[in-house]
Amino acid sequence: MSFTRLDLDDSAALIRLRGVTKSYGKGQTELLALKGIDVDIAAGEFVAIMGPSGSGKSTAMNIIGCLDTPTQGEYLFNGLHVEKLNRDQRARLRRGYLGFVFQGFNLLARTSAQENVELPLLYRGESASSRHELARKALASVGLEGWEHHTPAELSGGQQQRVAIARAIVTEPAVLLADEPTGNLDTKRSREIMDLLARLNANHGITVLMVTHELDMALYTKRMLHFIDGALARDEINPHPTPFELEPAVHLNLAPTFPPKPSNTVLTLGQR
Ligand SMILES: Nc1ncnc2c1ncn2[C@@H]1O[C@H](COP(=O)(O)OP(=O)(O)OP(=O)(O)O)[C@@H](O)[C@H]1O
Ligand SMILES: [Mg+2]
Repeated sequence: MSFTRLDLDDSAALIRLRGVTKSYGKGQTELLALKGIDVDIAAGEFVAIMGPSGSGKSTAMNIIGCLDTPTQGEYLFNGLHVEKLNRDQRARLRRGYLGFVFQGFNLLARTSAQENVELPLLYRGESASSRHELARKALASVGLEGWEHHTPAELSGGQQQRVAIARAIVTEPAVLLADEPTGNLDTKRSREIMDLLARLNANHGITVLMVTHELDMALYTKRMLHFIDGALARDEINPHPTPFELEPAVHLNLAPTFPPKPSNTVLTLGQR
């Protein structure tokens, strides 16, 4: 049996949405951004979320990423009912298991790459020395060794996106959620980011979900979810994902498999 980092029951999905709806506003102005999403995503999958502007992609990502809550329906993460958690418990789940890459990078402007990547570790209460060490390794793993002390303004768009990815993976998440990670990049830089995401998925077992408008980028993944008007219109397997660079210019020096976190950590979130 293959190693699963969360001691998953094989039959269980890592991410399970059932009848998830999200509405904004009330009465006449109510807008249904998600109209009942049912989907299962297993540990280790690499999934693209596609669909027109306004179809609910970011809303779904934000719910999966515990940044937002469904209006109705169930969200199970490794069997845990996320919709029943309080804000604090959701934050712990997010910090412990989920990494988020936002469109437009969301880096702190006057702050070095190193400090940007250390930030989630600071929230998690890591010591200064372990923050320095882990951030340095995460930056090296995305090919930014030697760039630690540059601020975002001193980095290219592709490099800034790498810093954002380093910040998302520095906590060794089970799931990496990326909302249009290549949205602001040219084709060459976009392909480099896709290579990096594909490697994080294939070599490190991180489950990767990404939103993209570009079919070329979606074709790197193994499964494509198409959203239309708040509904999941199509769920298709990509039998021939675009091959990614095996001999990377980028050296991943994260452990081949992250140390497993005990599944009961999730189940006892309230006591952590
Ligand atoms: N905070 C909010 N308040 C009100 N309406 C919102 C809010 N967030 C999203 N919406 C609405 O929900 C719908 C889905 O938005 P969402 O951001 O999920 O779309 P998207 O598929 O990510 O689009 P894009 O490709 O443009 O990023 C849209 O009609 C949007 O206007
Ligand atoms: Mg969006």
